[in-house]
Amino acid sequence: MAAHAVRDETAARAGTGPVTGERMRRVLGAFCTGVVVVTAMDGDEPVGMACQSFSSLSLDPPLVCFCPGVASTTWPRVRSAGRFAVNVLAADQGELCRAMAGRDKFAGVAWTPGPGGSPLLNGALAWIEADIERELPGGDHAIVVGRVRDLAAGRAARPLLFFRGAFGHALAD
Ligand SMILES: Cc1cc2nc3c(=O)[nH]c(=O)nc-3n(C[C@H](O)[C@H](O)[C@H](O)COP(=O)(O)O)c2cc1C
Repeated sequence: MAAHAVRDETAARAGTGPVTGERMRRVLGAFCTGVVVVTAMDGDEPVGMACQSFSSLSLDPPLVCFCPGVASTTWPRVRSAGRFAVNVLAADQGELCRAMAGRDKFAGVAWTPGPGGSPLLNGALAWIEADIERELPGGDHAIVVGRVRDLAAGRAARPLLFFRGAFGHALAD
């Protein structure tokens, strides 16, 4: 098919209408990411939320960031903890990810406290512990910047990927 005949949005130079949330979700879903679970301790209760909006931000100083939704009930609890752990999920942790996006998040979940006290999930590819440094506005999300205090790579396994609203783990195949 000639390039000019392609009708999908990737080929369109101008968009195809208003920038709605549905279009944002569908088009931005083409940006494949890993998935992390951001965890913290609220008193003696572990809290967590699945996040794809995680990024390494700066090496010097060592910073990471993620973006919790303003409607998140977990984020205020992480904020009050003042620190968090980022758990990078492996390909076989899709079910754990779904649990961490639901209600009864830590039921049956194996974890150990990190050096800074935040929950480290068993089986993760890597963990990063950080202190909350800044919270910036970002529309219907916040941009949270954390200063890394400790980190380590865990087991050698394939990563859990999120692409077009679904989990995947073999893009090169
Ligand atoms: C793959 C995946 C990625 C997600 N990424 C984010 C994210 O970046 N920011 C966010 O606020 N919620 C994200 N969520 C949704 C939250 O995990 C979930 O809605 C949230 O924990 C539930 O709200 P709560 O904070 O009130 O528990 C994601 C969910 C999934 C399954």
